[in-house]
Amino acid sequence: MHLERKVEAIRAAMPAVHEHVYLNTGTYGPLPQVVVEAMRSVSEREFIDGRITRENYERTTELKAAARQEVAHLLGCHPDQIALTRHTTDGINLAVMGINWQPGDEIVTTDMEHPGAQGPIFNVIRRYGVSVRTVRLGTGAGDVVSAIARLIGPRTRMVVLSHLTWNTGAVLPVKEIAELAHRVGALVVIDGAQSAGSLPVNVKELSVDVYAIPGQKWLCGPEGTGAVYFSDDALDQLQLTIVGYASLVQGALEPIGGYFVPKPTAERFEVGGVHMPAIAGQVAALRWLREDVGYDWIFGRIAALGHYAWQRLAGLEGVEVLTPPDRMAGLVTFTVRDCDPQQLVEKLLERNVIVRWITHPYSVRLSAGFYNTEDDIERLIEALLAVRSELLGARRTTG
Ligand SMILES: Cc1ncc(COP(=O)(O)O)c(C=O)c1O
Repeated sequence: MHLERKVEAIRAAMPAVHEHVYLNTGTYGPLPQVVVEAMRSVSEREFIDGRITRENYERTTELKAAARQEVAHLLGCHPDQIALTRHTTDGINLAVMGINWQPGDEIVTTDMEHPGAQGPIFNVIRRYGVSVRTVRLGTGAGDVVSAIARLIGPRTRMVVLSHLTWNTGAVLPVKEIAELAHRVGALVVIDGAQSAGSLPVNVKELSVDVYAIPGQKWLCGPEGTGAVYFSDDALDQLQLTIVGYASLVQGALEPIGGYFVPKPTAERFEVGGVHMPAIAGQVAALRWLREDVGYDWIFGRIAALGHYAWQRLAGLEGVEVLTPPDRMAGLVTFTVRDCDPQQLVEKLLERNVIVRWITHPYSVRLSAGFYNTEDDIERLIEALLAVRSELLGARRTTG
């Protein structure tokens, strides 16, 4: 299909991108129509037929299997290696809490991690006396592999890092880092919150052990959906932290020491009842992306628009773009001289342009989604210049 017609068709399916200049998929993606329809149809069926019919039970099992299947396709693995979660942070917790930590064991991580990864790490520091070694990466532009190599040692049991950093939008060299970590027998846990759906991911090629993703960001699904991949090594080594009926099968009983045993697949990391409309929405989103939009097209388009935004911003006097241009996807982070990022974001919102501010480094971040256009970027730039004049003008008259 012709590019413009394809983008138009995609945008027609996502009303939120008409309402605003929507440049914050890194927080929540816009919902496509098929997702809302799938959620509505499951909600209505549950309302009218009730939730405990036999058909509903079977449909639930099928839908969850379909969700694992779609995620496996996206990440390049087998569905048995996927557990459904509520968000990225769930997946990271399952990994970080899954080791029987001994005092003095080490986690290597970076100073670019989101609280979704920092939280679980802090937790095991507090509870088990785990040591953390944090590599300082600046904007993520330098020699990341050597910097991490210096911190990995014989006590390292886990390396936790983002594939695409939430703050400066840098793609980190996960494959090379995984090789280093595996040399000392450490598990590699990846926060895929910003990479899943924004760049190609193949967990086997990357050789990682855990890859945690959300449904609600670049994959345009509902909140409360996510998934996590486990390598065979991770499945062997990680203990269950939260366990329920969804984790277990009726076992061959006594010899194994109990009535239930954990499922043989990654499904053992699932716990209990889930919100079926959300899972239906997640499946609809992933199917739509794969079948109708096309992942290769999506990744190419996000990379092109990200670069377009990078170039346009970098060309503006007084704007500093922090995102490393040779290792980026759709996130672009920048500062504007003499302007407060939070104030800029608020003022841009008044002009109907949705971006966000970041705490470290204190800056503004835009997300270029596959449904955005060059015109969206131009509208951001136009609004940015107007807001800057307004803020600096106000300061001159009051100051
Ligand atoms: C890199 C990164 N990790 C984790 C999260 C938390 O995501 P979730 O709400 O899916 O747990 C975010 C969300 O903004 C993020 O950008």
